[in-house]
Formats: sequence, C-alpha cells, structure tokens
Amino acid sequence: MIRPETGRDVAAIRETNVAAFLHHPFSQQTEHLIVEALRDAGALEISLVAEVDERVVGHIAFSRAAVGDTSAGWYLLGPVAVVPDHQGRGIGSALVEAGLSELRSRGALGCALVGDPDFYERFGFSHCQGTTCHGVPEEYVLCLAFASHAPTGEVVHHPAFSVTA
Ligand SMILES: CC(C)(COP(=O)(O)OP(=O)(O)OC[C@H]1O[C@@H](n2cnc3c(N)ncnc32)[C@H](O)[C@@H]1OP(=O)(O)O)[C@@H](O)C(=O)NCCC(=O)NCCS
Repeated sequence: MIRPETGRDVAAIRETNVAAFLHHPFSQQTEHLIVEALRDAGALEISLVAEVDERVVGHIAFSRAAVGDTSAGWYLLGPVAVVPDHQGRGIGSALVEAGLSELRSRGALGCALVGDPDFYERFGFSHCQGTTCHGVPEEYVLCLAFASHAPTGEVVHHPAFSVTA
C-alpha cells in the first residue's frame, strides 16, 4: 500500500532511509536528515510511504525546485528509499509512479532529479539538454516535463539538501 506519511511514520521513514542508503556508493548517509530538514522547513511537498504487512518499507520525498529561470511548477524527486530486504519487488517503482501521479494531479509542470538513468528512464525521465546541477555529471541530471518542454539552466535543490551529519 502506498499512502501519504502521517506523524506516526517519522521514525520508520528515518530508519528506511538509513537502511536503504547504508552501503550506497555515492551517499553521505544524510538522506534521513534531508527528509527531516525538508519536513521541518515545511518544504516536504509530497511524502509517501510504502507499507507491507503494516510495516513501512519504502519512502519517497518531493520538494519544490528551481530549474533555470523557472521558479514555479517544478519539483525535485528524492530521496527514494526501499529497505534492502524488500528491494527488487516493484516497491520503488510504485512509489515513483504514485508520486508522479500526485504531481500531475496538482498541475505541476515537471519533475527533476539527480540519479541513475538506468532506474529513472523507465518512468520517462531523461537528461534534458542544458540542464545542470552543481557538482553533478550531466548524465545524472534528469527531467520529466509534464506540460511543455523542460527549462534549461541549473536545478537548484532546497537548502535542506545541504544538511550535514
Ligand atoms: C533505488 C530503489 C529505491 C529502487 O527500489 P526497488 O523497490 O528496489 O525497485 P523496483 O523493484 O521497483 O525496480 C527494480 C528495478 O530497478 C532497478 N534498479 C534498482 N535500483 C537501481 C539503481 N540504483 N540503479 C539502476 N537500476 C536500479 C532494478 O535492477 C530493477 O530493474 P528491472 O525491473 O529491469 O529488473 C531501491 O533499490 C533503494 O532504496 N536503493 C538504495 C537507495 C537508492 O539508491 N535510492 C535512489 C537514489 S537515486
């Protein structure tokens, strides 16, 4: 089951992110802190959990992002996390699909992210020419435009993404 987070999910969301990113090669193990900083800032626009047998096993976050000179209507996907013993069963994909569906229903213009194209291309994400993110190789900066074309320029994350451990 995919559903929005509630106040009772906070600890489970933290544990899910910690467990999922523990051995991730590019992670600084701050994903749980980023989610909490976004929540504290009122910037966690969409926060969904995946529940199996009443246990939270997955989580996805969306915040607002500026892309180039477009300051409204674009969102940032991430982090997305599934606990190791439930990975590879379609839960991460279900979280992404549910989040994108919610964004579309809100009239969003599009969604950007920094991530592995091998995972995200299946949802329609691709590298948009001229879209960059400071310090990230261009092929990992991905966009999905819902309305017209993607804006060009830099994807700017919410300041919560700069949190340190
Ligand atoms: C990435 C993640 C959320 C995917 O969730 P999941 O439930 O395992 O994914 P699904 O079962 O829906 O999809 C599995 C598919 O994605 C692929 N996949 C999973 N993680 C991937 C990754 N990091 N890079 C590329 N492909 C990936 C699998 O090979 C599988 O492909 P297939 O359908 O062709 O067999 C999960 O593996 C996870 O939490 N990983 C650690 C944290 C992480 O890397 N988050 C994303 C950071 S950008």
